[in-house]
Amino acid sequence: STVSYPLNTGAKIPAVGFGTFQATDEEAYSSVVAALKAGYRHIDTAWIYGNESQVGQAIKDSGVPREEIFVTTKVWGTFHQKPLENLEISLEKLGLEYVDLWLIHWPVPLNPNGNSPRMPTNPDGSRDVVPESEWDFVKTYELVQEAVALGKAKSVGVSNFSIKNLKKLLAAPTTKIVPAANQVELHPLLPQPELIEFCKQNNIVVEAYSPLGSTGSPVLKDETLIAIAKEYEVSPATIAISWAVWRNTVVLPKSVTASRIESNLEIVQLKDEDGERINEIAKKNGPKRLINPPWAPYVVFND
Ligand code: A2P
Repeated sequence: STVSYPLNTGAKIPAVGFGTFQATDEEAYSSVVAALKAGYRHIDTAWIYGNESQVGQAIKDSGVPREEIFVTTKVWGTFHQKPLENLEISLEKLGLEYVDLWLIHWPVPLNPNGNSPRMPTNPDGSRDVVPESEWDFVKTYELVQEAVALGKAKSVGVSNFSIKNLKKLLAAPTTKIVPAANQVELHPLLPQPELIEFCKQNNIVVEAYSPLGSTGSPVLKDETLIAIAKEYEVSPATIAISWAVWRNTVVLPKSVTASRIESNLEIVQLKDEDGERINEIAKKNGPKRLINPPWAPYVVFND
C-alpha cells in the first residue's frame, strides 16, 4: 500500500507502518530489513522495545534513503521529567539526526529510580507511578514540544491517550502544538469509535497498534472476519489491516515472518457494508482490550 495521510504539521504519514515490538534483537534487525525490502516506508519503534540500535542498523543497511522513511519512536515513563534526554538516547541508538514522529508512550510518569522500568510493581504491591501532584503528562508534553524547534522530531504526539486525557492535554495553556497522532490499541475486538471521532474532530491522526490482536492473534479467529476474507479471497489479517485503512487510521501490523511482512502491506478496498460488518463485531460481546499494563486501570483508560 502506498496510501498516506496528511498530519496536522503538513508532513505525510504512510498508512501502513511496520511494528517492531519483537522478541529478539536479531528478529528486529532482519524483520526491518525485510520490511523495507518489501516496500514499507514507515517503521514504528520505542525506547522501551530495546531494539532501536537494530532498527537503525537495518535502516542503514537497507540502502533506502533516510528521507523516504517515516520513523517513529516514543518516550518511556521513566523519562517523563527529562524526555529530551530520552530522545537523545533514541537518536544515538537509531543513528539518526531526527525522527519523523516522537510520541509519549503512555500518559504515565514512572519513577526513574523505581524497581523496574518495564513492570513498575513493587513486591508490596505498590506502584512506581509518580503521583499526579508531582508530575503529569501535561508537563511532559510541554518539554516534548521543544524537540520540534530543535529539529529532532518533525512531529510530536501521544500514545495510549483516552479522550479524557486528550481533553486535559489540549486544554492546557502549555500545549502549543496539537498532537499530530495518538497511537492506541485498535482492532475489530476494540474499535474505539468515540476516540476515533474525537481525534478526527481535533485533527489528530489515529494509529492502530496490535491491529491483529497481538500475540495469539485472537482477532484472526473471528468468524465474521474469516467470512469476509473468503469473499475477498485474501487472509483475515489482510481484512483486519484493510479495515483499519478503510476507517482512515494508520495501521502497524508486526511480523517476523517474511511472507507475512509482505502480505501485510497489501490492502484491499473494502466495500462500506463490509467495513460496517466489522464495526459490528465488538458490539456482540463488548470491546475486548488485550494490552493491559499494570498501571493502566489507574490513570490510562479512565473515561
Ligand atoms: P509472526 O510474527 O510469527 O508472523 P499484532 O500486529 O496485532 O501485534 O500481531 C502480531 C502477531 O500476529 C504476531 O504473533 C505475528 O506472528 C502474527 N501475524 C502477523 N501477520 C500475520 C498474518 N498475516 N497472518 C497471521 N498472523 C500474523
